[in-house]
Amino acid sequence: MILASINHKGGTGKTVIAQNLGVCYATTGAKVCIVDADTSQNSMRWFDARGDKEPRIPVFYNSNHRTIRRTVEDLYNNEDYDTIIIDSPPSLEKSAGKLSA
Ligand SMILES: Nc1ncnc2c1ncn2[C@@H]1O[C@H](COP(=O)(O)OP(=O)(O)O)[C@@H](O)[C@H]1O
Ligand SMILES: [Mg+2]
Repeated sequence: MILASINHKGGTGKTVIAQNLGVCYATTGAKVCIVDADTSQNSMRWFDARGDKEPRIPVFYNSNHRTIRRTVEDLYNNEDYDTIIIDSPPSLEKSAGKLSA
């Protein structure tokens, strides 16, 4: 299952929802990871802050709209994650603009 926490506004709870969903699914035994697609990297910071806390929820950073699909497919097909949660940036256009600049 691939879930994305999306809203075009900042500060609406996307990151907190992604993290809470991650913990919920991991607690039920799913092999979960988060893909942090936001250049602010708040989910990456959350991963660092959790340290060795269980359940383990790896966070991978990719804010590149050209390669994120491949990253998610690779995690799903080759790394055996059955639940992938994408923590999205507040604006797809802004992200794409930054990346192509
Ligand atoms: N359900 C909630 N209740 C109270 N505060 C929340 C809730 N969800 C998020 N927040 C707080 O709102 C702020 C923005 O949340 P965040 O998940 O970082 O938003 P986004 O990722 O959409 O920018 C954070 O300080 C977070 O702790
Ligand atoms: Mg966020």
